[in-house]
Amino acid sequence: RKELSLLMLPGDGIGPEIMIEARRVIDWLAENRSLKITVHEDMVGGAAYDAYGKPLSDEALALAKQVDAVLLGAVGGPKWDGVDYDKRPEAGLLTLRKELDLFANLRPAVCFEALVDASSLKPELVSGLDIMIVRELTGGVYFGEPRGIETLENGERRGINTQVYTTSEIHRIAHVAFDLAGKRDGRVTSSEKANVMESGLLWREEVIKVAESYPDITLDHMLADSCAMQLVRAPKQFDVIVTDNLFGDLLSDVAAMLTGSLGMLPSASLGAKGGGALYEPVHGSAPDIAGQGIANPIATILSLAMALRYTYERPEEAQLIEDAVQGVLAGGLRTADIMQPGKAKVSTSVMGDSILRQLDRLNA
Ligand code: NAD
Ligand code: IPM
Ligand code: MN
Repeated sequence: RKELSLLMLPGDGIGPEIMIEARRVIDWLAENRSLKITVHEDMVGGAAYDAYGKPLSDEALALAKQVDAVLLGAVGGPKWDGVDYDKRPEAGLLTLRKELDLFANLRPAVCFEALVDASSLKPELVSGLDIMIVRELTGGVYFGEPRGIETLENGERRGINTQVYTTSEIHRIAHVAFDLAGKRDGRVTSSEKANVMESGLLWREEVIKVAESYPDITLDHMLADSCAMQLVRAPKQFDVIVTDNLFGDLLSDVAAMLTGSLGMLPSASLGAKGGGALYEPVHGSAPDIAGQGIANPIATILSLAMALRYTYERPEEAQLIEDAVQGVLAGGLRTADIMQPGKAKVSTSVMGDSILRQLDRLNA
């Protein structure tokens, strides 16, 4: 059978620190589950900018298109604040998403039972929480034209970004959401601001059209501001949330805190069937803790689990990793971000070690 391949792009800040732990899980799978994945590695973000003067080299992009999946750490940091927009670390990530046409960003927010008390919400609000946010990833205000900063005749400056969606962009992301809901609780909440934005109104109308071919799925609509409120008021009311690029970015960070920490949230960015895929934690490069060896590697390790499920079609190994994470958390180990009184605070690498030992145990 065909050789499996992965491109690792550790990136900046805590990216390389958490990627080491994901790499160890990949090595463990090779040794213990005869799952051989050929791993390539390259630079992205500020690291690539420092090396090549751009945040994603042509070679890295070409490789990303060839491999089965990309696993990315994080990009960005204060070091590159002054860099031109198109050469910023973040542009490397946006280029990857756009060039690989990864329009569907799945951001599951699952609260592990052991972390129920780590959430900033009351335990009963998050216990058993399992939401899937489906964020449109290659359209909307992130990519709309015109954009830029211009200077007007009166000397004022004007910053411009444009929110645009076409019917086909809305249809394809809606299909992803409805298909996923069919394998879950059968409920989709579509979120926009149809009350003030034409693109939001179009979004709502087109999602309703797509829903007609999913008679078993319940669809409702929620304005995005209200959705943010409901996420922290009663998060368990949601099953699948489908929303645009910008609202999805905001709502998934909100949802992250329901699970205890941004350091827990994985994501998958998918395109058309048979195309490439990108897996990455939802969090960023965490400059405030970079270099200290204390970052939580779980979001990245769970992103690898998503790759095993969606790209490599190895659901057993995906489940094994998720169970190992669950086991380690139940055993009381915590990185600083999910620290709770009475638990053992451990480093990135000790968390990684413990997950490997738990994998050994579960696999025995
Ligand atoms: P951030 O997600 O990097 O950090 C927010 C807070 O969460 C920080 O206090 C950080 O310490 C904490 N945190 C994040 N991940 C953690 C982990 N794994 N373990 C423990 N704590 C963790 O967001 P920010 O500070 O707003 O952004 C920093 C940089 O990251 C910016 O340049 C931004 O553009 C970039 N960014 C990149 C990505 C990405 O690569 N996908 C995502 C978001 C932000
Ligand atoms: C994310 C990040 C990115 C985004 C940035 C770094 C481009 O915040 O993946 O959530 O805004 O999409
Ligand atoms: Mn974000």
